[in-house]
Amino acid sequence: MNARGRSGFGKQSGPGNKQEPSPAEAQLSPEARARLRALRSMGLDDDDEFGDEGDRDDLLDVPGGVRLQKVLAAAGVGSRRHCEELIGAGRVEVDGQVVRRFGARVDPENQVIKVDGKRIPSRQDIAYLAFNKPRGVLTAMSDDRGRKTIVDFLGDRAERLFHVGRLDYDTEGLMLLTNDGELAHRLAHPSYEVAKTYWAEVPGPVPRDLGRRLQAGVELEDGLAVADKFRVLEQSGNRAMVEITLHEGRKHIVRRMLAEVGHPVSRLLRTTVGPVKLGSLRPGATRDLTVKEIGELYAAVGL
Ligand code: URA
Repeated sequence: MNARGRSGFGKQSGPGNKQEPSPAEAQLSPEARARLRALRSMGLDDDDEFGDEGDRDDLLDVPGGVRLQKVLAAAGVGSRRHCEELIGAGRVEVDGQVVRRFGARVDPENQVIKVDGKRIPSRQDIAYLAFNKPRGVLTAMSDDRGRKTIVDFLGDRAERLFHVGRLDYDTEGLMLLTNDGELAHRLAHPSYEVAKTYWAEVPGPVPRDLGRRLQAGVELEDGLAVADKFRVLEQSGNRAMVEITLHEGRKHIVRRMLAEVGHPVSRLLRTTVGPVKLGSLRPGATRDLTVKEIGELYAAVGL
């Protein structure tokens, strides 16, 4: 079987393979395209054994491991064919090493697999969700006072998820939920704080220099709090809707900052956490994060 494989990594395409290249395949180097075609012409599937000596790398196959393209496809990167194209193009890394072998066997539970430098969610038992927390819901798994908690919206998934940080009882909007402990820990840790954006309804009119003041920093009882960005979204009469972005994770931070500058918040909604946007997710609803969002979250916290 090795001989079959070795011959597949030669220069020529498989005989009679007249298939038009897909757009992604067309971008491959001639060598990678030839390899891909040869592989397909042999009709290899995931469990075939084949040699790969023309394409050695230092990555050891994991005994009993899973084919790299299968792991990528299962993670939602794309079809098996697209994943083979990514491997052929040298866009896939396993534990920091580019792997161009289609047959590499990897351990999706323990190895770090990246596409274009972004980690992919290779473990099947890990969930990554965006949740639109409604107003009047406690960020907790239970409440001895009988108030609604986020668990009321998660059904039977609740026990294997934890929330990344907290929103106040009266704050609405985007929360991330996962059972990836390391990611959740880093996202909530002050040294990795990712940017979060909020819409706040406040009394108007908002003075022109308010953004400058917030970006210069507001002195609070537990220290200075600084906004990264600020803008007025809407003003009418004595109400205004403002948008504020900050890296801070301290308790009631947005409410305290805006109260300190004379604009106490009457309604607060979180619209983004790092690369993840609330978008049109309904209050009380959840959605799976995309592979891209997960990769960007990992990158944001150095994983
Ligand atoms: N800042 C607040 O004041 N409340 C929240 O829920 C989140 C950020």
